[in-house]
Amino acid sequence: MRVLAISGSPQKNGNTSRLINVIVRDLEKSGIADLKIREISLAGCSIRPCKSCRKCMKEGYCVLRSDDFSKIARRMKKSDLIIIGSPVYFHDVNGQIKNLIDRSYSLWHERQLKGKKVIPVAVCAESGDDRALETLKLWAQAQDMKIIRSVSGHGFKAGEVLKDESAMKLADEAVRAVSGEVKPGNIS
Ligand SMILES: Cc1cc2nc3c(=O)[nH]c(=O)nc-3n(C[C@H](O)[C@H](O)[C@H](O)COP(=O)(O)O)c2cc1C
Repeated sequence: MRVLAISGSPQKNGNTSRLINVIVRDLEKSGIADLKIREISLAGCSIRPCKSCRKCMKEGYCVLRSDDFSKIARRMKKSDLIIIGSPVYFHDVNGQIKNLIDRSYSLWHERQLKGKKVIPVAVCAESGDDRALETLKLWAQAQDMKIIRSVSGHGFKAGEVLKDESAMKLADEAVRAVSGEVKPGNIS
């Protein structure tokens, strides 16, 4: 199984990356055969906004080539499972993740992500994780992807999410759902 884990936070070692790392480490311990995991942090990546040129409708790819989107799109297309995580900014995903999902319009016309498994992840200090997860879930549904489990956590300062027992439990359940130990769920 080829796994791509994307952290959308501008903080390379912030809570989003750390929660994703918990899922990745659990996956490595799960015994899933032929596991190949790639991790991408959007910290330091440039993903420009979709400019609605609509050229992707004909070309099947995004014609904006001067940033990191096409590299990430290529990796998404090669993956069986995509873990996509965002810090919560004003009760929704942050701008980098929104740019990424908007630019994936280029993959939507031919449903190039269809059937891929996805684990949406969101981390907030207090509230807004539900709305951010909703954005990620609606994106995955629009792309005909298969949502396995969503994982949310709480923390403000980097690392605090690791003390969130509920987040650790959700991460564990998500990995067990990937390996088939438990049924996919919590994805209303
Ligand atoms: C611009 C900005 C907006 C934020 N908005 C919210 C919010 O609406 N709700 C909340 O609970 N936390 C909010 N936070 C806090 C972050 O979600 C929280 O610190 C999170 O752990 C950051 O993840 P990171 O360490 O991966 O960047 C905000 C932080 C920033 C920088």
